[in-house]
Amino acid sequence: AGTGIAGEKECGRADHQAWSRFAPQLFYKVDVKIGSHSFHPELPTAEVWGYEGKVPGPLFHARYGQPILVRFRNQLPNSVQGFGSPDISVHLHNLHTPSESDGFPIDWFSAGTCGATLTRPGEYKDHHYPMVYAGVDAFGGIGDPREALGTLWYHDHRVDFTAANVYRGMAGFFLAFDEIDSGNENDPNPNALRLPSGEFDVPLMLSDKYFDSGGHLSFDQFNQDGFIGDKWLVNGKIQPYFHVAPRKYRFRLLAAATARVWDLQLRFQNRAQSFAQIANDGNLFEAPLLRSNVMLGNAERADIVVDFSRFPVGSELFLTNRLKHLDGRKPENDFLATPDQVLKFIVDRPLPGPDNSRVLSHLRDQPPITMSEVVNTRNFVFARSGGGWTINDRQFANRPLASPKKGTAEIWNLVNPSGGWAHPVHIHFEEGRILKRNGGDPPAHERGRKDVYLIGPNERVQVFLRFRDFVGKYVIHCHNTIHEDHAMMGRWDIVA
Ligand code: C2O
Ligand code: CU
Repeated sequence: AGTGIAGEKECGRADHQAWSRFAPQLFYKVDVKIGSHSFHPELPTAEVWGYEGKVPGPLFHARYGQPILVRFRNQLPNSVQGFGSPDISVHLHNLHTPSESDGFPIDWFSAGTCGATLTRPGEYKDHHYPMVYAGVDAFGGIGDPREALGTLWYHDHRVDFTAANVYRGMAGFFLAFDEIDSGNENDPNPNALRLPSGEFDVPLMLSDKYFDSGGHLSFDQFNQDGFIGDKWLVNGKIQPYFHVAPRKYRFRLLAAATARVWDLQLRFQNRAQSFAQIANDGNLFEAPLLRSNVMLGNAERADIVVDFSRFPVGSELFLTNRLKHLDGRKPENDFLATPDQVLKFIVDRPLPGPDNSRVLSHLRDQPPITMSEVVNTRNFVFARSGGGWTINDRQFANRPLASPKKGTAEIWNLVNPSGGWAHPVHIHFEEGRILKRNGGDPPAHERGRKDVYLIGPNERVQVFLRFRDFVGKYVIHCHNTIHEDHAMMGRWDIVA
């Protein structure tokens, strides 16, 4: 994209000076535009809105220590047919990103190119991704390598229109690597994890969509509960298949629907097969967990390793969803008798070479939870009131619900007081640790660092958070994107 950083001056005036401290080394340009996409060979080609016109958008492979600048150019048309808004904001969920590059949903006017976060058609916005671990002040500008993130995704975050814009295609994967999770299964570094890499490291974006009788993509923007589709999609294709070799694969599962909650199993001959879960929400666990299912609320991720060498050549396996979810409010407390097939694996590719990948019994240390750092406890109540969705009785407004101080830790209680719905709550910027779920210890797969916390009917979670590095405005919201748009979202600020 060239080397000129538009707005560098203005950003240099920001109090954290992230642009000059972590000057971009890699430059990318992504055009946000109309694309024509085939969801299925038997359906008419659809017009999508995508990053580079693609669904999903371009896949980023990023490295810690190599700051990135991405220029997102808004090339959508001015006038819209159907649903969505051509005014956009790009959020990289959940990179440790300075506020002005975080895709704040409603900022049209802040001074300077790197100030305002929204762009109209014809405009562009430069996003700065410093690629530093969290804790850069405490750890000498490098940060704490225990806090490396792996599986991230970027998506639209335009206020009131996020659901429609993401549904129309604005979502892509952003994978982050470092010395330990290096993205090379043949890495000679003895400390490298050597997880399945390259073509054996496969992000899978799960979504559901609805097609009308003419086979055209349709969306109900008037249902405030949440949108549920009737077709299963993986990486923009309806119920696709995937030829695999008899070896280990890393799959990065991402729930990227609107409201749907998933309970995923890998099934062979109608029986659930176990796999190793190594990460959630982009954070490697301390140790892998043997699982036979993973449940994901919208925007949650799970990295799993599946070893297909256990199955005879020619085997067919299915990634299935067994959770009943009939309307947008919440999943049923019930499983489908016959799970739905989301993705088919066919074990028929010849092994291209030795499988040098491995799953070590120790993956990544977690930063300690130090209760003596806690200076504040806050409650965030997610409820329906006044004809909309609220946090602490407030619909989204551009003034802070909370202003934690940089360098401190707090406990945030996320509370769902109703039996009627589920909320996958997302906190931007800092990963938290669940201390309690409904008053008890969280399950093993929720003990790692997280950025989305599913609070089902009448549930509550208690989260430990540290606020570091950058000051500025961020958001907390329900990631059922319909609830988010109507306007279960709150601004919170990290203050000096
Ligand atoms: Cu995945 Cu506020 O977003
Ligand atoms: Cu919600």
